[in-house]
Amino acid sequence: MNQPGNPGEVIRTVQNQLECDLYLGGYWLPIGKLKPAVKMPVRPPAAPAGSPARAVSQERIMSDAEPRKEKQKRLDDLVRRMGSCCRCSLAQTRLHLVPGEGNPCARIVFVGEAPGASEDEQGRPFVGRAGQLLTNIIEAMGLRRQEVYICNILKCRPPENRDPQANEIAACIEYLYEQLRIIEPEMIVALGAHAAKTLLNSTAAIGELRGRVHAYYPEPLSKPIKLVATYHPAYLLRNYSPDNRRRVWHDMQMVLKELGLPVPRGKQE
Ligand code: URA
Repeated sequence: MNQPGNPGEVIRTVQNQLECDLYLGGYWLPIGKLKPAVKMPVRPPAAPAGSPARAVSQERIMSDAEPRKEKQKRLDDLVRRMGSCCRCSLAQTRLHLVPGEGNPCARIVFVGEAPGASEDEQGRPFVGRAGQLLTNIIEAMGLRRQEVYICNILKCRPPENRDPQANEIAACIEYLYEQLRIIEPEMIVALGAHAAKTLLNSTAAIGELRGRVHAYYPEPLSKPIKLVATYHPAYLLRNYSPDNRRRVWHDMQMVLKELGLPVPRGKQE
């Protein structure tokens, strides 16, 4: 059994940290058959704003301006309602509400668990270490953060980063449902067990839920939205292994293929 301070455990922690820093340094490339020690190519600079290449990239993932304005307005109204929410006690302990951010016409919505300390300080989702890894994953998919929408099941931080409680999820979930009804994404990526189990109304482990495409129904008779569950970036940081990393990349490839988006060159297995 590994005790804290046990040399084996310390070495494993340091190894994890170094490997995760490799990710966090902008090297989050899907490994496939690639070995982590290989020197990674430098990402080519983004096409300049206004250039035809940038326009194509935007068109792939964004829809036109009018619905965008309308959806943004509805999201802003919703954030105002969230701001005065006192349905559970988290409103009293949080520093800032973390409603979510991104493209109101996004084709992909990433849903995490709940804000952590950095998110609570900034009022923005996924801005800490797990957030940096999520950003790297999104970029490895050939997308940019502002092209997708990122939010959480809970909009307020649970104290000490404890797990969300059932009553808190029940109190908050309607806000996420409303966000999804407004954005109407084609794909939801559920990050981690809490998001996957809540959205799929399942008790299965994340290991069983990941690796396939599910259907999420925003309303009983509505058109389903595709949902892919994967490991939470924070889990990946704590449990780095080439296999876990490969699993997450497989899930993200599935997302791209389901949406007819290209898997970035050089990153296919
Ligand atoms: N973890 C989450 O689930 N959400 C965040 O916003 C940050 C970390």
